[in-house]
Amino acid sequence: MKNPEIEKKIKDLLSKMTLEEKTGQLHQSGGSLVGAFDLTLEEILTMVQDGRITEEEGHKMLSEAKHDWHEDDIRAGRIGSYLNVIGAEEMNRLQHIAVEESRLGIPLINGFDVIHGFRTITPIPLAESCAWDMDLWRRTARMSAEEATAAGIHMTFSPMVDVSKDPRWGRIAESAGEDALLNGLYGEAKVKGYQTDDLTRHDAMAACVKHFAAYGAAEGGRDYNRVDMSPQRFEEEYLPSYEKAVKAGARAVMPAFNDLSGVPCSVNKKLLTDILRKRWGFDGMTISDANAIAECINHGIAADRRDAACQALNAGMDMDMTSGCFLDHVKELVESGEVSMEKLDEAVGDILRLKFELGLFDDPYRSGAEQEKAAMLTPAHRALAREAAQKSMVLLKNDGALPLKAGVCIGLAGKLAFEGDEMSGTWSGNVQAGDCKSIRDGLDAEGIAYQPVETDQPLPDCDVFLCAIGERKAESGEAASRASLALHDEDIALLKRLKESGKPVVAVVFAGRPLCLEPAVECAQAILMAWHPGAEAGPAILDLLFGRVNPSARLTASFPAATGQCPTLYYDHIRTGRPAGKFKYTSKYLDAPVEPLFPFGFGLSYTDCLYSDVSAAQTAEGIHAEITVRNTGDRAGEETVQCYFRDPVARRVRPVRKLAAFEKIALQPGESRRVAFDIPRAALGYYDQDMNFTVDDGLIEVYIGGNVRDTLQADLYFVSER
Ligand code: NOJ
Repeated sequence: MKNPEIEKKIKDLLSKMTLEEKTGQLHQSGGSLVGAFDLTLEEILTMVQDGRITEEEGHKMLSEAKHDWHEDDIRAGRIGSYLNVIGAEEMNRLQHIAVEESRLGIPLINGFDVIHGFRTITPIPLAESCAWDMDLWRRTARMSAEEATAAGIHMTFSPMVDVSKDPRWGRIAESAGEDALLNGLYGEAKVKGYQTDDLTRHDAMAACVKHFAAYGAAEGGRDYNRVDMSPQRFEEEYLPSYEKAVKAGARAVMPAFNDLSGVPCSVNKKLLTDILRKRWGFDGMTISDANAIAECINHGIAADRRDAACQALNAGMDMDMTSGCFLDHVKELVESGEVSMEKLDEAVGDILRLKFELGLFDDPYRSGAEQEKAAMLTPAHRALAREAAQKSMVLLKNDGALPLKAGVCIGLAGKLAFEGDEMSGTWSGNVQAGDCKSIRDGLDAEGIAYQPVETDQPLPDCDVFLCAIGERKAESGEAASRASLALHDEDIALLKRLKESGKPVVAVVFAGRPLCLEPAVECAQAILMAWHPGAEAGPAILDLLFGRVNPSARLTASFPAATGQCPTLYYDHIRTGRPAGKFKYTSKYLDAPVEPLFPFGFGLSYTDCLYSDVSAAQTAEGIHAEITVRNTGDRAGEETVQCYFRDPVARRVRPVRKLAAFEKIALQPGESRRVAFDIPRAALGYYDQDMNFTVDDGLIEVYIGGNVRDTLQADLYFVSER
């Protein structure tokens, strides 16, 4: 809902602006680095991200280089926003120039990728999604905003709510996994955590929902690749998570790099205007992905930069992240009439609206050096990072090796057990060397003795081996797609070597995506999927391994038995005419199972739950279902009770299962709880062949359990118009 006072201020300001000044507002500038090398800030950050240089080298380059933020362009009104200004003093200095030395004094807005923590790094989003915990997601976003805003940041390019069904895609690490409902809830919680309900607060940060839309469906899991799908599938599986995050109040949206059925999202009017603004009523700011407008030339949809700018602006793009196409061409496009003044004013208005909403006009300087220092990595922040890590790690196997007993003699194997800096994972652009604690750091801090396993030495004599395997942080994230999801050869060799000792092996897997863990299943008595857990990695892992905390996380993406199962691995695949069976001519592989190694929703704990007495009935609003869950073990624990449904006969082929609701409950030993779910009528619906949304009469099967594979079933006859 637009605020009339702000709308009036926007109108007044627009009436004073020259065409050049309007164009300048549309431009987001990155700084250039001046020094012995000729690299932009983004290039250096990318080099750190993809591992070409280490984080330490990157920080050294950045701290030694002098930034050129093109201050004269601020004075001339040619910059509306910055990408990646880090530091309260530096941002205040630039803001002073904008406010005091440009003709109209319009403040700058500064954006940065605060994805899973700013300085206090929390688990990567895919990991944190495994907590199935909206309150946790909101609290960690709040912490990110407190730190980032203290360092001069006004907007984060988060949450990413791209449903990711193919783990070959490196950016699955940044998502909440393969399910639409979970991605939507994750996005909603993050938006609320970043923004609060008062954007003018100094510690509130605007959220930018990305990457609109369906970036996670890149063909072959190869980053930036095409996305082509039926409109029905798009509406049912991919759009809802963006809608949920936008309707939670996100004030910015970033269109994706990819094309969607042949039209790059950056110039896609159907997405940026028809769906986003007209259908959902979004009145915030759209901002392109980095250089994405210029890349429409590579897509082969724009003849040149001018054409790309024209198409993007007319489609509904407001701000150009760093390509400069808007800055260079919008003036002539308006003068020639190819872009109307009205269209330009809409774009500028969206940008000014966000600046007004953030309170930047009245209150442009948000923090200072002292405040910035005090905000980072506080004990409370470390405690939250530890809690988030404990709740994100999934226990995948336990043949009794866990929990470890106090005083056990540990052999510590695998490089990743010793490298704290690898624990931050992808997109942790402001982490400093030494911030994140490894397993070794955790053991040292607690004074627990261990014996390192050296490659060329005999194995130490110990009671149990902790074996760290998996991916380094540069192996997931943007531009980090993989054609094979197999464990690395040296990890497999290490697992086999440890197994031969006859001692129990506990595998701790670090990764930004689901991997093929069969060799670990064969060689290890226990497997903890730790992902990239962030600042408190080591301590949180030990909390779980020693049983001080009972593991509670559940997978939000299926784990493959073989890479070739991608991209059909996900749990909510549709039904075929020949479901896999013993008969040859059924839908399966000759050389791999069709089922995942670990299914969606799966995760163990140190206690067991028994499900019984499932029921389902129609209500005025939809379906009411219930189940009894009993903790049959001897420890208190948490269970994520998951409610799925299936529509067995419909006018379009429907998924084998669809997650409709879930509830995370805590149970004392022996305690039982009746857990109830209400599935709204609309959740049962789908788009028919003519794109009409429909909810049918007929049988609905409800499945409730602790993961998608192990459920109890209750059927009901659903009457749509009751
Ligand atoms: C490219 C990424 O796709 C996007 O997610 C990110 O926000 C921008 N670069 C800015 O760093």
